[in-house]
Amino acid sequence: MTDVLPDYTNLKQLIFRRLEERYDSLIDQFQSSNHDLKEYLVEDALRDQNLCVSTTRLVFDLMNFRKNSRVPAKLILLGYVTITNDSISLNGDLKSAFRGKGIDYKALPAMKIGRLCVDDRYKKRHIGKLILLYCIRKAVYLNQNAACRFITLDAKRNPQPDTDSLHFYRRYGFDVLPHKDKNKDELMKQQTGETPMYMDIYHIAKKALKLKDVD
Ligand SMILES: CC(C)(COP(=O)(O)OP(=O)(O)OC[C@H]1O[C@@H](n2cnc3c(N)ncnc32)[C@H](O)[C@@H]1OP(=O)(O)O)[C@@H](O)C(=O)NCCC(=O)NCCS
Repeated sequence: MTDVLPDYTNLKQLIFRRLEERYDSLIDQFQSSNHDLKEYLVEDALRDQNLCVSTTRLVFDLMNFRKNSRVPAKLILLGYVTITNDSISLNGDLKSAFRGKGIDYKALPAMKIGRLCVDDRYKKRHIGKLILLYCIRKAVYLNQNAACRFITLDAKRNPQPDTDSLHFYRRYGFDVLPHKDKNKDELMKQQTGETPMYMDIYHIAKKALKLKDVD
C-alpha cells in the first residue's frame, strides 16, 4: 500500500478533514511508535473537539480520498494535527525584543499545534512538512480575523536526533521558547520530555493579506 503513495511536494496533494466518528475504524488502525499521540487520537481528540477545547484534522492523500470518500474503510489516514488557541507570555529577552518593536504587552496571541503525528508507515514523504505548512496558512488566516502573532508547540524530545522532533521544527523556522528558569541552551540540551517552541508569523502574515482559508 505504501508504494502507491508519492513523495508529497505540494499541499494540494493532501486533503484535511475535520475529525468525525465515521473515521473511527481508520483511527484504530493508525500506527505510531509514539503511544501518547496514538492514544490521544483514539481516546481524547473527538471529546476535546466536542468540548471546543481543540480541533483535529485528519490528513488524507487527495487521490485516495476522491476514490474512496464514501467508503471510509478504504481511505488511507496519513496523519493528523490538533490545533488550539494560545498566547505567549513575554519574559526576559523576548520582552525586551518586543518592547524594542513598540509592543509593550505582557502576552501576545498565538495558535498552538497541540499534536502533530504522521503514521509510521508514511513518514519521510514530506507529509509532516506539508502539515506544518497547512498550520502556518491556518495561523495567517486566523490572524485576518482575530490577531495571531505566533505559532506555538511543545516538541517531543528523543535522544536520537532523527526522531527528536525539535530538529524537525527548527528546520522550518521554529525556535526554542526561553523559560524564565531555563535558558535556550539548557532547553536545547534536554533529551526527553517536551520543549516549548514558537514561530513569529509577522512577515508571512504581512505578505499574505487576504489569504483564503485552506478548507
Ligand atoms: C516529526 C514528524 C511529524 C515528521 O514527519 P515526516 O512526514 O516523517 O517528516 P517529513 O518527511 O515531512 O520531513 C521533512 C524533512 O525533515 C526531515 N526530518 C524529519 N524528521 C526529522 C527530525 N526529527 N530531525 C531532523 N530532520 C527531520 C526529513 O528527513 C525531511 O528532510 P528532506 O526534506 O531533506 O528530505 C514525524 O516523524 C512524527 O509524526 N513523529 C512522531 C510524533 C512527533 O514527534 N510529533 C511531533 C511532536 S508533537
